Amino acid sequence: MIEFVNVHYYYKENSSLILNNISFTINKGEFIGIVGRNGSGKSTLARMFNGILIPSKGKVLVDGLDTRKAEDLIKIRRKVGLLLPNPDNQIVSSVVEEDVAFGLENLGIKPEEIRLQVDEALKLVEMEEFKKHPPYLLSGGQKQRVALAGILALKPDYLVLDEPTSMIEPEGRKLITGLLKQINSELGVALIWITHDLEEIIEADRILVVANGKVKEYKKPKELLGKADIWKEAGIEPLAITQFMQNLKQYGIDFKPEEFTVQEMVDFLCRLK
Ligand SMILES: Nc1ncnc2c1ncn2[C@@H]1O[C@H](COP(=O)(O)OP(=O)(O)OP(=O)(O)O)[C@@H](O)[C@H]1O
Ligand SMILES: [Mg+2]
Repeated sequence: MIEFVNVHYYYKENSSLILNNISFTINKGEFIGIVGRNGSGKSTLARMFNGILIPSKGKVLVDGLDTRKAEDLIKIRRKVGLLLPNPDNQIVSSVVEEDVAFGLENLGIKPEEIRLQVDEALKLVEMEEFKKHPPYLLSGGQKQRVALAGILALKPDYLVLDEPTSMIEPEGRKLITGLLKQINSELGVALIWITHDLEEIIEADRILVVANGKVKEYKKPKELLGKADIWKEAGIEPLAITQFMQNLKQYGIDFKPEEFTVQEMVDFLCRLK
C-alpha cells in the first residue's frame, strides 16, 4: 500500500505550496488515474512516490517504508518505478539491452541473473528483437517501451506513469497503453497513471483529480466520468461520450451520469425508443 499523509510541498522556502495537504492511499495491484490541468502539481506528486522529492510537511509511506528515511530509499525505489513522458530523458546506454540492464547493474546483481531479467523485461514490452539495436534508431514509442523494460526489470510492485504516451506517435501510444494494462491485470503491478486523456483511464479502479495542489475527487470512474462540470472545473477535456450526452440534455433527453461507455450509451438510446 502507498499512503500519502497530509503531504505539503513547496520548491523553495516561503514560495507558494504546490501540494497542499494531500492525503490518499493506493492498494497493491490497483490501477489509479491521476488528472488535473497543466501546472496543477501532477509531476511534483509523481516524484513523491519514490522519494525523488520529499514532502516539506507530511509523509509518504510505501508498504510502510518512509520516503524521508535515506536508509529506506533503495528499497522504495525497487518497489516504485517511475516512467517519465520523454523516453530520451531516461535512456542512458547506446545498446537497448545494456540500457535495460542499467538499473540491475547498479544493484550489484550477478550477470547471469541480469541477462535473464533483461530478456524477460524486453519480452514483456515486445522489444526482444531490438535488444542489440542502438536506441536512437527506434521510434518514440519503441524507446518508451525500452525505458519501461528498464523499470520492469527491477520487478516493481508499483508503476508511476507521468503522461507515458504524451510524447509518442499515436500507433505507439495504443501499443504501450495496452501493454501497461496487461502488466496491471496479469502481473498485478499497480499503475498510477497521470494523463490528460480520460480515455486512457476509463478502466481505472479510481481516478484522483488534482486541482490547486489539493485532491478534488478520488472516486470510481463511474462516479466521475459522466459529470461534465467536474471536468470543466478541472480543465480537462471530457470524454467525447460525455460531451454527446451533454448535447442530448439540451434537447430534453436526460441520462444517468454513469452511462459513459459507448455500449451503455447505445443501450440507453435504444431504450429511449
Ligand atoms: N523544479 C521546480 N522549481 C520550482 N517550481 C517548479 C519546479 N517544477 C515545477 N514547478 C512548479 O510547480 C507547479 C506544478 O508543476 P508540475 O510540473 O508538478 O505540474 P503538472 O501538473 O505536472 O503540469 P503539466 O500538466 O504541465 O505536466 C507549477 O507551477 C510549476 O511551475
Ligand atoms: Mg507534468
